[in-house]
Amino acid sequence: MDFLVEQAYANDIPAIQEILRAGNLSDNFSQCRFVLKASSQDRIIGGIGIEFWDGFVSLRGLIVAKEFKRQGVGKALVAEAVKLCQRTGAEGIYAYTMFWNQRFFYTRGFARVPKESAPAGVAASAVFHFPHYRPCCLMEYQGGSR
Ligand SMILES: CC(C)(COP(=O)(O)OP(=O)(O)OC[C@H]1O[C@@H](n2cnc3c(N)ncnc32)[C@H](O)[C@@H]1OP(=O)(O)O)[C@@H](O)C(=O)NCCC(=O)NCCS
Repeated sequence: MDFLVEQAYANDIPAIQEILRAGNLSDNFSQCRFVLKASSQDRIIGGIGIEFWDGFVSLRGLIVAKEFKRQGVGKALVAEAVKLCQRTGAEGIYAYTMFWNQRFFYTRGFARVPKESAPAGVAASAVFHFPHYRPCCLMEYQGGSR
């Protein structure tokens, strides 16, 4: 499948939010400095949001529509987000994710780190405090991909 990952415009956001809601995930991009979209044949099939907290990044709202999973879209979204964060001088890149996504992030160059090690701004961000996100783990980008 051919797809493209690029920066989303404001009018792309509702389509990404709809995919998030279909997956019962938070669709709040209000604190994101950037949002990337994945599209195929003019249809938005996924996205990811990038929040900056005191120079540190929290990736949020990573999603790929059900029928397009396992085709490399999530991988491409994270790779592009990491590149963008690095270009904009992020001091560290974090994702707060359900434990079953650990392997996915591990293959993208992230390692699991203790929640307590989150930079203060990241730890204070809303996603850390949703009651249903309690089983999440903190992944930190450590470079490269495996
Ligand atoms: C997590 C998610 C974004 C992955 O997207 P995807 O497009 O299906 O993933 P990819 O096809 O790019 O897979 C990349 C790698 O991760 C692996 N992988 C993907 N999903 C996985 C899963 N659920 N469990 C284990 N491995 C997984 C793939 O096998 C692949 O490995 P490979 O490169 O060795 O082949 C997608 O499953 C999703 O939208 N999940 C629901 C939302 C969610 O949990 N988001 C994370 C919030 S932080």
